[in-house]
Amino acid sequence: MTPAHGIAVIACAIAVIAAIRDSVADSDEEAIRFLQTYGYLDGDNVQTISDNATLALRHAIALFQEYYRIPGDGVLNEATLEQMRKPRCGVKDILNDLDDSPRKWAKTHLTWNFHLASESVLRVTEVAFEIWAANSSLMFERNSTNPDIVISFRKDFHTFVDPRHQGSRICPSLLEGPGNVLAHAFLPSSEVSEVHVDSAEKWHIELTVNPDDTIHLLHTLTHEIGHALGLHHNPLKDAIMYAFVLSKTFPVRLSEADFLAIQNLYGLRNKSEIAGPVTTTVTTTTIATRDTGNSADLCALRRVDAVLVLENRISVTMAGKFDSEIFGIVCPKDGLLEQLRALLKRLAQMRNVFSSEDDLEEEREEEEARKFSHSV
Ligand SMILES: *[C@@H]1O[C@H](CO)[C@@H](O)[C@H](O)[C@H]1NC(C)=O
Ligand SMILES: *[C@@H]1O[C@H](CO)[C@@H](O)[C@H](O)[C@H]1NC(C)=O
Ligand SMILES: *[C@@H]1O[C@H](CO)[C@@H](O)[C@H](O)[C@H]1NC(C)=O
Ligand SMILES: *[C@@H]1O[C@H](CO)[C@@H](O)[C@H](O)[C@H]1NC(C)=O
Repeated sequence: MTPAHGIAVIACAIAVIAAIRDSVADSDEEAIRFLQTYGYLDGDNVQTISDNATLALRHAIALFQEYYRIPGDGVLNEATLEQMRKPRCGVKDILNDLDDSPRKWAKTHLTWNFHLASESVLRVTEVAFEIWAANSSLMFERNSTNPDIVISFRKDFHTFVDPRHQGSRICPSLLEGPGNVLAHAFLPSSEVSEVHVDSAEKWHIELTVNPDDTIHLLHTLTHEIGHALGLHHNPLKDAIMYAFVLSKTFPVRLSEADFLAIQNLYGLRNKSEIAGPVTTTVTTTTIATRDTGNSADLCALRRVDAVLVLENRISVTMAGKFDSEIFGIVCPKDGLLEQLRALLKRLAQMRNVFSSEDDLEEEREEEEARKFSHSV
């Protein structure tokens, strides 16, 4: 080998190593940006290269992997990057404590408008609202005078449409062209909630199955309206509130998780003789015991988010930190009451540990149980 060759080989090797290092750094940077955007990583955690920053990044990657059930153990692998690159909703998966309080509208009759929309966009939007109305006490009506929910096509850096929006006129979130973020929405507020739909996407604006290279507007709108009503992301793939877009998005229908989430906020419409939902929130850090069988023992559940009693069925949603499971239990009439009593007792016991108003709570719960024994 001549010296010239040797230098060429070395130069080449250095270039390859540099390229590998660059690509690692690029994907790290991409992951950091993603994890910060969606609430997995604090903004200021990884400014400096330190052991702590590496640890924080690893922890954030592990959280993301746990939320979406991707194997990886905190290591940024191909499957994880691939998931991060899929088209999705721009709203955070993990809310920080400040955002965590439940936000809902104080009324059940809400108005909406789609700013500068065509007839076909309006028709699709109407159907999206109907999907939520069919499964809750909510009623929706289009009204362009001071609507509660304002939807618009936006792109790149953009402004809010409605002057009632408090604070800056500039939306803090970017819509970065095709792919990535498809749309984002704001939780209910006292005045107006906006939904911004990325006009750079190739939208399918019909009530039919969409061609592969398009995004179904009905599906995206139904998801974003969920946020505008106060719902958060759900890691279950069949939920409308799942953040990513899967290949099959039509027909659009609520999953049981969506149904329970909207019931939890607004209840059912008053038309049949249905028992109202019992809702309760318990904050414990206990890891959930999982059991999806029909015969699940409700008393064994350690952390319960919402309980819905509908006809002769008890549905319970549970959220571990990054996980949620649904139990649907169909009981004979007597069995239902028994299960419900046991569950309320169990919840009361849990409250005893975590609340100082135990007695009041317990009384209230026994009162609920008594009410149910009348209605069952
Ligand atoms: C790393 O974190 C620990 C505990 O949070 C802290 O005491 C320490 O100062 C941090 N080190 C650096 C270099 O930030
Ligand atoms: C939502 O409402 C529709 C129409 O009434 C109904 O067919 C569907 O079963 C409901 N969804 C759930 C999850 O109950
Ligand atoms: C729209 O809302 C305005 C103000 O809230 C109200 O006066 C008007 O009657 C509504 N229009 C329709 C068609 O409901
Ligand atoms: C449903 O009915 C109850 C009792 O009849 C009533 O208090 C409540 O206001 C009704 N809710 C709605 C949304 O109409």
